Amino acid sequence: MDNKIKVKVNNLTKKFGDLLVLDNISFDVYEGEFLCIVGPTGCGKTTFLNSLTHLYEPTAGTILFNGEPVDLQKQNITYIFQEYSAMEWLTVRKNVRFGLEIKQDYKDIDKKVDAALELVGLKEFENYYPRQLSASMLQRVVIARAFATQPELLLMDEPYGQLDTNLRFKLEDEVVRLCKQTNTTVIFITHNIEEAVYLGDRILVLTNKPTSIKECVVENFTRPRDIVSPEFIEVRNRITDLIKWW
Ligand SMILES: Nc1ncnc2c1ncn2[C@@H]1O[C@H](COP(=O)(O)OP(=O)(O)OP(=O)(O)O)[C@@H](O)[C@H]1O
Ligand SMILES: [Mg+2]
Repeated sequence: MDNKIKVKVNNLTKKFGDLLVLDNISFDVYEGEFLCIVGPTGCGKTTFLNSLTHLYEPTAGTILFNGEPVDLQKQNITYIFQEYSAMEWLTVRKNVRFGLEIKQDYKDIDKKVDAALELVGLKEFENYYPRQLSASMLQRVVIARAFATQPELLLMDEPYGQLDTNLRFKLEDEVVRLCKQTNTTVIFITHNIEEAVYLGDRILVLTNKPTSIKECVVENFTRPRDIVSPEFIEVRNRITDLIKWW
């Protein structure tokens, strides 16, 4: 892995009124790295991504992308929200296309849309409207829209929550393959420890509020990961133990 810092989080603190959520958090994310963040519900995982993207302003501290303040107008950052929805009035295809249109990325646009639809298995549903899809299909529309834009930084907040196990494994493998192939930097939030161990180059384990980093677990074993290998089980158990003491 390249050691160039893509995202630098410096003494980030976020309060809502008197409620201290993120308590002086600092860490770096490296170029091409797949960083997973796990932590208890309500500890501030979504708040962190919202602070990074300026939906919330930090109470103190800074977050830099490529050494500069985050600016979504200028930087190629894509955020898949935890509570997302597709645009009801657009077909599946147009929903995916929209991600490229807002970035004014018209080069090979239809090819990119086709590739993203194929990736998530929605090509044959491209002319459907969101109301005609199941919850997991809707989730795939949003994932396809994000992948089509080939972002430099991809932020994902529990993106696979609604998927069945087979599709989840398929998309987990695909997201890793695509991100490694394109050197995309990823910050991926999940409640699922096994998923974090399967995907992450590193895993940040967060505490309860007021939230700090409990431990940063580095995973240097090879991909694709074997979920029954001793090294996989060792890391999974270690993180489970850390989480028991939340
Ligand atoms: N806009 C807001 N106004 C006030 N409080 C907020 C706001 N957004 C989040 N919070 C509070 O900040 C804390 C962290 O919320 P956040 O949504 O970041 O948690 P999370 O770690 O993403 O949880 P989950 O795992 O359930 O998604 C919670 O106590 C929540 O009530
Ligand atoms: Mg959340």
